[in-house]
Amino acid sequence: MTSIAILGHGVVGRGVEQIVDTRDLDVEVRRILDLPQFCDGPRMTSNYQDILDDPQIEVVVECMGGLEPARTYILAALEAGKSVVTSNKAVVAAFFDEFVAAANASGAALMVEATCGGGIPWIAGVEKAARIDAIDRFQGILNGTTNYIIDQMVKGGLEFDVALAQAQQLGYAERDPSADIDGIDIANKTIITASIAFGCACTRELPVWGIRTLTKADLDVLAGKGLSVKVLGRGVSRDGRYAVAVSPVAIPARSLEACVPDNYNLATLHGETIGELKFYGQGAGSLPTGNAMVQDVLDLKAGRHPSYDFSAGLEYDPALLVCDYALRSAYVPADADGELAPGYAILRGLDPVAARAVLDEALAADPSSFMVALPEVC
Ligand code: HSE
Repeated sequence: MTSIAILGHGVVGRGVEQIVDTRDLDVEVRRILDLPQFCDGPRMTSNYQDILDDPQIEVVVECMGGLEPARTYILAALEAGKSVVTSNKAVVAAFFDEFVAAANASGAALMVEATCGGGIPWIAGVEKAARIDAIDRFQGILNGTTNYIIDQMVKGGLEFDVALAQAQQLGYAERDPSADIDGIDIANKTIITASIAFGCACTRELPVWGIRTLTKADLDVLAGKGLSVKVLGRGVSRDGRYAVAVSPVAIPARSLEACVPDNYNLATLHGETIGELKFYGQGAGSLPTGNAMVQDVLDLKAGRHPSYDFSAGLEYDPALLVCDYALRSAYVPADADGELAPGYAILRGLDPVAARAVLDEALAADPSSFMVALPEVC
């Protein structure tokens, strides 16, 4: 029997608890950490030391979210030789190399499948592919909330604010939806994916923007050109360099990505011998994310765990992601080169850092400005 402790008894923690309690997995939930006012059963505790001091607890399943106390608790568990399974993309994106060093020092494992793509075995897919191929690129619809909002705007004809309110009612988006709609959540997942796919400590300073200013009219204009919009995390690596970025991207309306409905995710990797691989499914939610965490526990139980190596000395070079962009703004940059449609200036051959700088100038002049990448379109 493998004994685990769950840190955080929210949506994901309850999913882990439900799966372990209702399946015959030879795993037991021995302790659950929560705030004192929510500790209403014999296995609940509000004292993390109870978990650290319990020699029977082999695995700490962290689903608290946020940077602290998650970082402190993860490091303490790893240093105590307890393996950690986490769904917390913010803390892993911020401290991945530090956690890996602590795990390597103690011989414990760090398992991060649930940080990216909820129940989708995306990290496992990246790890397996990287055993044989250098992964040269990936891209992902890795945020269900923004996919739901865009899908509702397209299919339901809703404006952004209405679709966002629906996403909040359904529990997809937080009351403060910034992490989702500004691309921060996808950025964290992109950092984690790139670190594993490319074997480097990925920069945390990547260019990121989302769909806060997207309008139904933008989607209609792009649809008139045979294009859909998705928020993508993208990564490329070649010749000792890599680039990562997060932004709205215009994609052919007939592509698989364009067809991803509701709050689903679709992530794609490319390697030399495997070619293109796509991973589709529920990227969030109690049971799908809980499922991914329990899969990590079962892998640990079977003696399988990744050994991460971020020593590839890759240089961050945004030029690897150069493409054209369309900008809707009252501000028209001097180097705009024609229009995608009336009111949508085309900017040619920008890397994502330069594109983000242009967007910042446009937003300063016109806060409603919207910018979308046009890879392989114009
Ligand atoms: N807010 C995230 C999403 C949750 O919408 O995809 C899962 O990481």
